Amino acid sequence: MRVRKAVILAAGLGTRMLPVTKVVPKELLPVVDTPAIQLVAEEAVRSGIQEIVLVISPGKTALLEHFKPAPELERALEEREKHELLELVRGATRLASITAVEQPKPLGLGHAVLQAKEAVGAEPFAVMLPDDIFDCDPPLLKRLLEIATAKDAPTVALLRVPRADVSKYGIVAATPEEEQIYKITQMVEKPSPENAPSELAIMGRYVLPPEIFGLLENAKPGVGGEIQLTDALMDLARRRPVYGYEYCGARYDLGDRLGFVTAQVAYALKRRELADNLRSKLRSLLDAA
Ligand code: G1P
Repeated sequence: MRVRKAVILAAGLGTRMLPVTKVVPKELLPVVDTPAIQLVAEEAVRSGIQEIVLVISPGKTALLEHFKPAPELERALEEREKHELLELVRGATRLASITAVEQPKPLGLGHAVLQAKEAVGAEPFAVMLPDDIFDCDPPLLKRLLEIATAKDAPTVALLRVPRADVSKYGIVAATPEEEQIYKITQMVEKPSPENAPSELAIMGRYVLPPEIFGLLENAKPGVGGEIQLTDALMDLARRRPVYGYEYCGARYDLGDRLGFVTAQVAYALKRRELADNLRSKLRSLLDAA
């Protein structure tokens, strides 16, 4: 299976991070100094993706701007001989071909995917949610693409979560097939802890066939009155095998205040120029708290 395109869903309102998301799209909030949307685009490119389609809501055009050249800034950096900074600025513009489509109204994640139908066309594609950041090498999407290719089947990322948290996610029932690889038999969007079929949650990385668009077009509103991607995936699983890959590494939910702050610390500790100073500052903060 050759997957060239990734759809990054960036049309959400970001209500869990208000007030900053009143004006700033949550996907532009940084992890240390890099916007979440860029981290996810870099993961896509490192996984072999060549074309990225952003699904944005009206007013979130700054997301696309981030990937366009900034001639004045670049000229100013050139004049000041700030070569490293210039490379950082240009890096984002050279990643891949990046375009955007609008989701006019927030009618759900499934509806957001549907907006990319024309841009994707009749080929398999990846879907990425920029709230979910996975710190692993090789990237999680790359692993999913390998499995999707080997099985010639749609594949989603899974993560084991505490039972108390299942109502935040799509939860699956699944049969283990190989190490970390499951065949999915059921999917429920945001179940209560009592009704959840397991503790395996769908994470924000999917490899999907184009037939998902037809299923989304016919999908009825699900949880929250929204068109849910999970419901269309369940329809798909009734027709053909759908696989899950259980990710066991570090994951940060950038859409959540605690996840956002934790990601800052975790990623800063990986930076050689920041790590030592940050460690000692964290120690004194903890002593003082
Ligand atoms: C979405 C999906 C859900 C998935 C989650 C992963 O939920 O609907 O199935 O488990 O992303 O982060 P949301 O975070 O948009 O509520």
